Amino acid sequence: MSARWPTEGIAFGGDYNPEQWPEEVWQEDVALMREAGVNLVSVGIFSWGELEPEEGVYRFEWLDRVLDLLHENGIGVDLATPSAAPPVWLHLKHPEMLPVDADGLRYTQGSRESWCPSSPVLREHALRIARVLAERYGQHPAVRMWHVSNELACHNGRCWCDVSAAAFRDWLRTRYSDDVDALNLAWGTAFWGQRYASFDQVLPPRRTTTIPNPGQRLDFERFSSDAFVDHLAAEAAVLREVTPHLPVTTNYMVMGEFHQLDYAATTPLVDLVSNDHYLWAADPDGWAELAFSADRVRGLAGGEPWLVMEHSTSAVNWQPRNLAKGPGQLLRNSLQHVARGADGALFFQWRQSRAGAEKYHSGMVPHAGRDSALFRDVVDLGATLGRLAEVRGSVVERARVALLWDTQAWWAAELEAHPTVDVRYLDQARRLHRALLDAGVAVDVLPATAPLDGYEVVLVPTLYLAPDGLSDRLEAVAARGGQVVVTYFSGMVDEHDRVLLGGYPGAFRDLLGVRGEELAPLPDGGRVTLDDGSVGEVWSERMTVPDAEVVASFADGPSAGFPAVTRRDVGDGAAWYVATRLDPASTSALLGTVLAAAGVDPLVPDVPAGVEVVRRVGDGAAWLFAINHTDDDARIDASGTDLVAGGVHDGGATVPAHGVLVLRQDR
Ligand code: GLA
Ligand code: GLA
Repeated sequence: MSARWPTEGIAFGGDYNPEQWPEEVWQEDVALMREAGVNLVSVGIFSWGELEPEEGVYRFEWLDRVLDLLHENGIGVDLATPSAAPPVWLHLKHPEMLPVDADGLRYTQGSRESWCPSSPVLREHALRIARVLAERYGQHPAVRMWHVSNELACHNGRCWCDVSAAAFRDWLRTRYSDDVDALNLAWGTAFWGQRYASFDQVLPPRRTTTIPNPGQRLDFERFSSDAFVDHLAAEAAVLREVTPHLPVTTNYMVMGEFHQLDYAATTPLVDLVSNDHYLWAADPDGWAELAFSADRVRGLAGGEPWLVMEHSTSAVNWQPRNLAKGPGQLLRNSLQHVARGADGALFFQWRQSRAGAEKYHSGMVPHAGRDSALFRDVVDLGATLGRLAEVRGSVVERARVALLWDTQAWWAAELEAHPTVDVRYLDQARRLHRALLDAGVAVDVLPATAPLDGYEVVLVPTLYLAPDGLSDRLEAVAARGGQVVVTYFSGMVDEHDRVLLGGYPGAFRDLLGVRGEELAPLPDGGRVTLDDGSVGEVWSERMTVPDAEVVASFADGPSAGFPAVTRRDVGDGAAWYVATRLDPASTSALLGTVLAAAGVDPLVPDVPAGVEVVRRVGDGAAWLFAINHTDDDARIDASGTDLVAGGVHDGGATVPAHGVLVLRQDR
């Protein structure tokens, strides 16, 4: 990544789809954009069918006028390549580019993002239209950045068609150096006599009678992700060739459960990281998921500023109930992202559609038009972000705590026929993150391969498949005085999902000084008590402790009498193992002990739960963001110049209920 930021201040705007509206509406659009302080819009994401209505027949005049109009009004453009929505004629001419599911059913056209990522036809046409757009608009003064496709892998992260099958075989030949016996060994095909005599016999993991081969499943996840990474690389290469002066991004979906793409593999291909985030509106703790997502995105961005490419002003139409945001929530959500490192808050979409699949999804300009509380909130948000312009380019203060996650581990952890359906990869990570949020302790959420220098606490939740060498790196953290915490179902297997033998968890056995002999997950809804009063859920195991101290043992349940929490002293630090999913209170208690051992304090003391505090730092100044998700005003022990409401706070400040505070502080 080499960020060339597309706006002067904080980026503010959204997806702009003028082709949905008669041209007279465009004049009102730009007037309202100016009123709201919009400085960046994403254009053309789904416009291929409008730009090329017949093969080789282009209709650019409307887009020429849109870009000119935006430029005349001082609004920058994040121009999209339109591959997310191939035109109807292309689908009809090449139905083989439509994806096929694991049951062999071929999808039909009529929605979007419906193409096989291995289709050479799609690739050729996507690169052709990208080049045509780059040549026509690359020097247009409105254009600031490229938006490659849209949410790659969002709707069909995998395709099981024959073209994909052939590509999968090629991918496997490379991975296993043309040695089919290496594949047999990796996939454990001796089990159920699945031995392959040649790569030509291998298929994608289509629907089968019972449990599929886990090695095949895991490699297919990797292959499918790589196919989209290749697509991104191919489009980016064309854009860089024609317009080397323009930065390239693509909008990630680091949110909720989405994990079809290994984003860590894509960050070298983009100049800046952008993310789409939709709050799960029915979740009262959705704000905490947003914070977790934003921290993950910052980790992917290597701590550099990133961009919220899309979020919602209010209702999200694809959720079962399109719950509207409450008072102040739009501002809080946007500033949560900015606090956690975003230098822009964009939305889907500028003007709420009157027709089509997403007409009930909120926009910046709602159906009611300018005279609406929602548009006034949008104008207020634009003004607030305008007052925060000086924050742009600063970074979130480096945390002393790191929490590791990894998409490959996620894929592997959730394969079929595992010890319990109750282990969900992200559960433990989110619980730990939430405990830190409640304690007001900053955390960097990092890809598991990221350097760990300087971190004093490293948390390793449910890292079922650990990257090579991680155990040694964690040992080094502890040896220099750090605290390392590994939880259940980590380090279980090698890169092919083959169990590491000799006692669990194979990858971390020496680091932790424990030796698990049998896994003993809990029955549905089961809970266990530990002899220090803690409560565990989901998991227990029966282990001995050859080289660690027992901190707490299971007092009841299937592993009664066995160690549950252990600590191995390493140098000046320690490596902890937690063999159950502690409930929230017990998680907070354990983390309290670990943080105290490392001497890690909250950013600001005694902040009430439900109030987020984050600090960004730049040359000569720091900005303290406080966001209050509770019904009560919160007093915090912080001073500085209030960039939102104005004025100076000395000797403490109040964050209003449901409100925000941003303080500039001298460094
Ligand atoms: C059945 C099958 C075995 C094995 C066991 C345990 O009995 O015959 O091959 O799969 O179940 O799952
Ligand atoms: C995604 C897509 C947008 C839109 C929004 C809202 O983020 O990228 O095109 O569909 O969701 O649903």
